[in-house]
Amino acid sequence: MARHLVTSALPYINGIKHLGNMVGSMLPADVYARYMRQRGHDVLYICATDEHGTPAELAAAEAGLPVAEFCAGAHETQKKIYEGFGLSFDHFGRSSSPQNAETTQHFARQLNEHGFIEERAIRQVYSPVDGRFLPDRYVEGTCPHCGYDRARGDQCENCTRVLDPTDLIDPRSAISGSTDLEVRETKHLFLLQSKLQAEVESWIDGNSKDWPLLSTSIARKWLAEGLHDRAITRDLEWGVPVPADTWPELAAEGKVFYVWFDAPIEYIGSTQEWADAAAPGETRDWKSWWYEADDVRYTQFMAKDNVPFHTVMFPATQLGVREPWTMVDYVKGFSWLTYYGGKFSTSQKRGVFTDAALEILPADYWRYFLIANAPESDDSSFTWEHFAGTVNKDLADTLGNFVNRVLTFSAKRFGEAVPEGGQPGPAEEKLGAEVTRLLAEYEEHLEALQYRKAANALRALWSAGNAYLVEKEPWKQVKVDQEAAAVSLRTAMNLIHLYAVVSEPFIPQTAATLRGVFALADDAATWVSPDAATSLDAVPAGTPFTVPPVLFAKISDDDLDAYRERFGGGEA
Ligand code: MF3
Ligand code: ZN
Repeated sequence: MARHLVTSALPYINGIKHLGNMVGSMLPADVYARYMRQRGHDVLYICATDEHGTPAELAAAEAGLPVAEFCAGAHETQKKIYEGFGLSFDHFGRSSSPQNAETTQHFARQLNEHGFIEERAIRQVYSPVDGRFLPDRYVEGTCPHCGYDRARGDQCENCTRVLDPTDLIDPRSAISGSTDLEVRETKHLFLLQSKLQAEVESWIDGNSKDWPLLSTSIARKWLAEGLHDRAITRDLEWGVPVPADTWPELAAEGKVFYVWFDAPIEYIGSTQEWADAAAPGETRDWKSWWYEADDVRYTQFMAKDNVPFHTVMFPATQLGVREPWTMVDYVKGFSWLTYYGGKFSTSQKRGVFTDAALEILPADYWRYFLIANAPESDDSSFTWEHFAGTVNKDLADTLGNFVNRVLTFSAKRFGEAVPEGGQPGPAEEKLGAEVTRLLAEYEEHLEALQYRKAANALRALWSAGNAYLVEKEPWKQVKVDQEAAAVSLRTAMNLIHLYAVVSEPFIPQTAATLRGVFALADDAATWVSPDAATSLDAVPAGTPFTVPPVLFAKISDDDLDAYRERFGGGEA
């Protein structure tokens, strides 16, 4: 049986992420990891913060902290938020870990040994006042195209044109403001991706047959444009150092690897961190997942801007290393979640950020809405109106109300134990067949990582319970035939238990609450197979239960007004 390695794109360290970031990477990966675990597979779900590079240095400077200290704090902040969302990482690591440095350096040495790295001299802006080379975006000046006076050396924010620092009029250092800048020659390492083009192409040909179109079309586009050799080192303080044993001169100059070189390697690094964190007596073998791991199926989750790095650049690196590292088997790419059709924006305070989301409502509200509306093939839009409508209808009415109505009514009429007596009839048979069909659909879509379709099937399962209640009307039955009412309520309670089991990938906290409703002597069910659902009798008559508090509160018009006010409304 295969083991399943799951990774989601590493969230960048520089700030708290918005909902769009989570729905395109960590959240769907978590749903998949949970589902596969429930099906009894051996799953390892790995993520981490992506901590190196210029944006981390800039964010640290803005916070007035040394970059290492800033990153340590920002990592903890993000980690807590993801715990709050119920993300079930086996490990949430840090790309600044010693494990990642070691593996990154190993990859570089291997690439070098096999002729895929070359030292090249380039001309770069040097600032004597700052005592360092300035990365492109650390040089500011006036845009030669539009006259914007705070254009950065990589791009003008105002007219969006891509720039070279030497294009800027009146250039100055973004660190010190110094205008005393010179262009000096300096050496960097280049990864000779052009030499690996053919290999990447045939790897894509052989491995991407079942990938979503979003992933393959992006990969093909990049390959068609041709792989260019890329500088993989930078002049920064914060990064994985170039190893002195192989490049003493560059190491002495303090060069570090470019953030996009070490970030994907952190998928491996974080797995090493996971292994190193094993409890005494526990064995965690990171290498068995990553090296000569023929039985591992590897699935990656990411938004579309990350797809080129995962389908082309990182595979080129892995192929060039000439060692049998695990390569991705399936790339699930996502489009964008927009906020009222526009961009989520940190600077303009538009949109919902992950910390604020948890302040106003529990994780399951968000998880369900976001996955049910995942931007799978096209962009999808977050609006408060859509969110409230979905929560109120699907979660509060369809699922929550069903559960509370059944349990409250039964407790009142028959006491707090699953009612006894009566025999299931044609209505129960019909329900069993319907549930069997819907469960099979649900499984099929989850296996195929089709999130919207899986959500539709789950919602249909919840609705089937409501339809059954409406058909049987136990509150009327009870007046004429106690046993008939008992059958209806017992069947409905079995549905509740089934919901508890199969809703877990989407809404784990609620699922746990529902599990806790029944005092089953031995509730080892991790999944309900479609066949086992036909009889709907896993919870026997006589099982004690408790009525849980209301599962989902409705979002009122007043709430809506307050949310639109706080987060910026629909004036996109
Ligand atoms: N931090 C990157 C982003 O936010 C994603 C990195 S994914 C990995 O776009 F490949 F580097 F791991
Ligand atoms: Zn401009």
